Formats: sequence, C-alpha cells, structure tokens
Amino acid sequence: MTNLASAHDTIRAVQWRGDHLRLLDQRLLPAEEKWLDCRDYTAVIHAIKDLAVRGAPAIGIAAAWGVVLAAQQGASMEQALAELRAARPTAVNLMWALDRMKARVAAGADTAALEREAQTIQDEDLAANRHMGELGAALIAPGSDVMTHCNTGSLATSGYGTALGVIRAGVAAGRISQVFAGETRPWQQGARLTMWELVRDGIPAKLIADSAASHLMKSGGVKWVIVGADRIAANGDTANKIGTYQLAIAARHHGVKFMVVAPSSTVDMATASGDGIDIELRDAAELLSVAGRRTVVEGAQAWNPVFDVTPASLIDAIVTERGVIEQPTVERMRAVFAA
Ligand code: MRU
Repeated sequence: MTNLASAHDTIRAVQWRGDHLRLLDQRLLPAEEKWLDCRDYTAVIHAIKDLAVRGAPAIGIAAAWGVVLAAQQGASMEQALAELRAARPTAVNLMWALDRMKARVAAGADTAALEREAQTIQDEDLAANRHMGELGAALIAPGSDVMTHCNTGSLATSGYGTALGVIRAGVAAGRISQVFAGETRPWQQGARLTMWELVRDGIPAKLIADSAASHLMKSGGVKWVIVGADRIAANGDTANKIGTYQLAIAARHHGVKFMVVAPSSTVDMATASGDGIDIELRDAAELLSVAGRRTVVEGAQAWNPVFDVTPASLIDAIVTERGVIEQPTVERMRAVFAA
C-alpha cells in the first residue's frame, strides 16, 4: 500500500473467519458498532436483504462468502446460488460475484478452492478501490470542495471505497479540502454511515440535507459531485442510490462536474441502457418511519424506489480500475469493456 492509499483508511466491515462471515452491522451504525456472525448461507441472504451489509461491491463479496458457507454446510449449490442471486436486484456486483463462484463450482472446485476464489474477489476489490482512488483524485483541482451521496466507503466495499476512495485519496493528496455528504433519505446511508467513516478517519466533512444540494452548488461551494454505482449499463447510464439523478441534473445546471466511481464488477455490458436496469422497490415502512418511530399519519401510503438511473449524458467521468471514461458513450465504454 502506498502512503497515499493508506491514509484515512481504517475500516474493514466484511471479514472471513474461516468458518463464518463477520459483518459490521450497518443497520446499527453509528449508535452501535456490533458485529453480526453469519454461520450459514441463509444468514448471509438475510444480512443482504435487511441491509446489515450493503453497497454494491460489499454485497457481491458477502454473497461469494455465502457460497463458501453453502459448500461447508453441504447444501445444494444450485439452490444456494439461486437464492443468493435473488437477495437484491439492482447491484450487478451480486450477480457478477456469484457467476464467478458458479464457474468454480462447475469446474469441480472443493471448499478450499471456493474459499480462495472468494478471498480473491475480496482482495481484487480493495486493489481496484486504491487504484480508482488515485485515478479519480487526479481529476480534481487542488483545494476543491466536493459532494457525495449515499455511502460508498469501506463499509460498502472490501475497504477504502469507490467514490469515498477517491475522496480519501484526494484528501491525502491535498486536492480535496472538504466533503459535503447528503444524508440520503430514507435509510440515511450518508448521515449514518458516510459521516461515521469521515469523522473516524479525520476527513473534513459537513452533512447536508438532501434538499440542500442545489443551494450548495449554486453558492459555488463544490467543484465535483462524486458518487458510486450499483450498475453501469453498456452506454454509461448509471444506476445508483435514489437521489443521484437529481444531483446530476443540478450539477449540470450549475457547472459542477459529476464523477461516477465503480469497479469493473459494477459494469454490465449485457444491459444496453439504463432502461433495462431493475430498480429495487423497498417497503414503504422505510419512508413512513424514522429510526423505528412512525412519523407519518396512519393510513398514509408511500412509494419507495431505492435507486435511480443517471443518463450517461450527465456524467463527466466514469472512473474504473481499468481507466477513466470521460463523457461516456457506448463506443467509449466498449473501448474499455469489450462486449
Ligand atoms: O441500498 P444500498 O445502501 O446498498 O445502496 C448503495 C449505493 O447506492 C451505493 O452508492 C453503491 O452501491 C456504490 S457502493 C461502493
């Protein structure tokens, strides 16, 4: 690890312990730092569905360890792979990691070989994040303030983070002075998780209400919006946490640059455009309550899509570990990710 990459990087939320998977329970942060031990693959599925582990790369890594647990249990691998795949629909890293594990199963891999494959998936993610951190930070003028959305940090990956990895590298290099984090209603990934990571790693940061973003951009406060992705289609259209699309529209309006940071495991060249991406709808209860307390009148209904699609035309740069794609188009995507 270079000094640049190791700065501001202390959190590892997904840990394999030989016979179980240890997850830092993201439902409880920042109030409690409690670890959840998954001892069979169905526990991993529950952890993914209930958001104890979340963030596209972390979901894929956890699922890969779920396959190892299924092998240790002597479960039907076909059934385990299918059930893990159905845990959440939008982040393609889940399907990507399971396809890798499935190929090893089909090749007759034993439990030890599956364990090595899951560890490789986890290690490659960390290396990709560090590389993307340096590539993304290089795009930012020294002394810039930036804005981010949701949580794309160590909690959402094997470590370091995607968009938050660029922020970690940018702060270490003196390119980023301050980070504004949107709270990310309704699940508060920005308020609860990103602020926890930034404060813990000593990165200058301020929380803003999601609805303060346009005002911040208008005031000239930020030079870049930097976000992660759950799935990037072949033309560069990008699914990410709900609210990302409106940030991209506001950024373009105010002349603020918009950067998407994601490893190649998030790129889905088999899906032509964002129209083909399955957007997860979650329980209305997540909107009708805050911290477990009902805040909306009984009888009220709610609509709770948890991702949206930002068209490629609003994206200035997609940063992957394979390189930077500026003003993404299908041709530029294909040049890096052959179909
Ligand atoms: O519902 P979540 O919390 O899993 O959504 C996470 C996001 O949208 C992240 O921005 C994305 O997965 C990238 S994480 C590196």
